[in-house]
Amino acid sequence: MRIDVHFTPLGVSAAEVSGRGAVVIDALRAGTTVITALANGARAVIPAATPEEAVRVASNLERDGVLLAGERKSLKIEGFALGNSPREMTPEVVGGKTIVLATTNGTPALVAVQGADPVLVGAPANFKALAARARAVLAERGDLVIVCSGRERQFALEDAYTAGRLVRAVKTGLRKLELNDAATAALALVAAYRGWAEAFAGTAAARQLVEANLGDDVKFAVKPDRFGLVPRYAERRIT
Ligand code: MLT
Repeated sequence: MRIDVHFTPLGVSAAEVSGRGAVVIDALRAGTTVITALANGARAVIPAATPEEAVRVASNLERDGVLLAGERKSLKIEGFALGNSPREMTPEVVGGKTIVLATTNGTPALVAVQGADPVLVGAPANFKALAARARAVLAERGDLVIVCSGRERQFALEDAYTAGRLVRAVKTGLRKLELNDAATAALALVAAYRGWAEAFAGTAAARQLVEANLGDDVKFAVKPDRFGLVPRYAERRIT
């Protein structure tokens, strides 16, 4: 059995993930937003690599049931109905809607791993359920790829820490498990922090959100196991 972690989607090719099970992590905030939207009744979330692509995709869908959402530099994109805050994804706003979402790192990472099967969306918000599902995929397939969205094509601590927590949760009790170097490093990172809040607090992404008056999104994201669902990305939509 084998787990590979990628700290950014840059080195992930379609050939590498084809037919393998994958987990995509964008802990602050895209993953948390997707999980919250679906938990609160959204019909689906369609990830777009860019805001332009989001507009194009939305224009091909029935106008009534669609909400454009996304951010640039943490802030809502002009003309879009919603930003990328999980706190915006209330049942009243997203219930029954399809959300077309474009974020800086999270949605491009999802688009990059199309071809993997299944593609699961993970964050602290669904961690317990995610770990159980990832463990089942590993048992069934013999391997698992964990792709961190990273931050502007670089390492992001909150995603790497979440990947490490997932490796630790999934490997418990398994005797023969190979890890790539990034998975070993992510696992080692877990011991450096007392928990989610401490690991996320000083990250560049958290600081940017605090500066944008969105510090409550960090508080929202670090509370684990808010939801028991594990979104799956298939045929261009997350459900
Ligand atoms: C992203 O996908 O790049 C992040 O979720 C950025 C953000 O905090 O909105």
